Amino acid sequence: MPPKFYPPEPYRIKVTEPIRLISPEQRESALKEAGYNLFSMKAEDIFIDLLTDSGTGAMSAEQWAAMMRGDESYAGARSFYRLKAAVEDVFGFKYFVPTHQGRAAENILAACLVKPGNYIPSNMHFDTTDANIRARGGRPTNLVIDAAFDINDPHPFKGNMDIAKLRAFIERIGVDKIPFGMITVTNNAGGGQPVSMENLKAVAAVYREYKLPFFIDSARYAENAYFIKLREKGYENKSVIEIAREMYALADGMTMSAKKDAIVNIGGLLCLNDEALFQNIKNELILREGFPTYGGLAGRDLDAMAVGLYEGLDEDYLASRLSQTAYLAARLNDAGIPTIQPAGGHAVYLDAASVLPNIPQGEFPGQALCVELYREGGIRGVEIGSVMFAYPDPDSGVMIYPKLELLRLAIPRRTYTQSHMDYVADCAARIKSRADKVRGYKFTYAPELLRHFTARFEPL
Ligand code: F0G
Repeated sequence: MPPKFYPPEPYRIKVTEPIRLISPEQRESALKEAGYNLFSMKAEDIFIDLLTDSGTGAMSAEQWAAMMRGDESYAGARSFYRLKAAVEDVFGFKYFVPTHQGRAAENILAACLVKPGNYIPSNMHFDTTDANIRARGGRPTNLVIDAAFDINDPHPFKGNMDIAKLRAFIERIGVDKIPFGMITVTNNAGGGQPVSMENLKAVAAVYREYKLPFFIDSARYAENAYFIKLREKGYENKSVIEIAREMYALADGMTMSAKKDAIVNIGGLLCLNDEALFQNIKNELILREGFPTYGGLAGRDLDAMAVGLYEGLDEDYLASRLSQTAYLAARLNDAGIPTIQPAGGHAVYLDAASVLPNIPQGEFPGQALCVELYREGGIRGVEIGSVMFAYPDPDSGVMIYPKLELLRLAIPRRTYTQSHMDYVADCAARIKSRADKVRGYKFTYAPELLRHFTARFEPL
């Protein structure tokens, strides 16, 4: 039985935004026009938008007030110094630059450090990190524990890196070809699963032993820290901010999309301790993003981020957020729809391969489920499977398929209520009952990198 309710949100609604469900016929023609890619759809044709939790959260009254204090000076704005104080307080790195979002931080880091033929290990790289490394001729390498690929394994920290695999990988490739190492918290590509403090310490120790700089992809740092508090022995009585500080004391730097746990609509960070690298990063930033005290953002965006970095760490908020996600997962499971267990922080990941067992990987079961959920209820999710991650092996040209075919329903922060979650679960249950009639898809257009954003499809 799913839980009947979750802890009340520690806020009330002050501003609303209307949403509407268009008719089934209108949904059908919207799908066709978008080439069956929900990224190409008009947002006004979406009823409940679970495409992403990125930049889609509701800002607080404090954040909106902070925006009015934004200092739009080109250089040395007060907004920058307020953000600097927050970044230093929470993460503790010596240097940082703001960027317009997470992938801009990844691009700058890759531009400064990745050479053709280099390898970058992580638990799992998210698609933009993966693509930014590939765009520089590098090879992103995923070394998450095997439990991550078993949907039903209840491991509390399925985002953990496999330490034996990491060590063997470094020995095999050689440190000369590895400019730095990463880990993603929480592991978005693997189900929004957290990494334990114990594992972060072990990863940091291996990177340190081989003198590899350690960067944490920190989009969901607060959710990860809260999972540590809930699930890891010895952290029950620590505050989430203390846990976050302990996490970041292990690393040499971080990239971050602030559009997630810092609950802003736009923004990112690149933080580090190495002064020489910081100089190169600043030069690269000036070329691509802007002057180092604004990095492609308005001053007001820096102020909203400075407030959001703390709001994301609020424990009452985190309790209600994580249980909203768990509630949706439990309702789906109750309807016979398997999801990655345990529920992740920011999203529920439906096992499309098992909901649509008659659709082979090459015909995109995740994409098919994504289209059906829109058809059924105007709901937008995103495929995390072969559309996003299948690629030809650079040596042999043979297609390599990901281990999982998932549909991700990401939950924007502070945005939807329990009745929205119930509606989503009911729509998914109706698809389950007519699953044998759902067909696969083929590409009619697909670019080489990050193809899920702009690909077009045709039903088979
Ligand atoms: N790293 C992780 C773990 C992410 O989830 C994302 C974005 C990024 C980096 C890139 O950040 O979008 O600000 O450039 N994830 C979004 C998502 C797009 O829907 O999961 P960005």
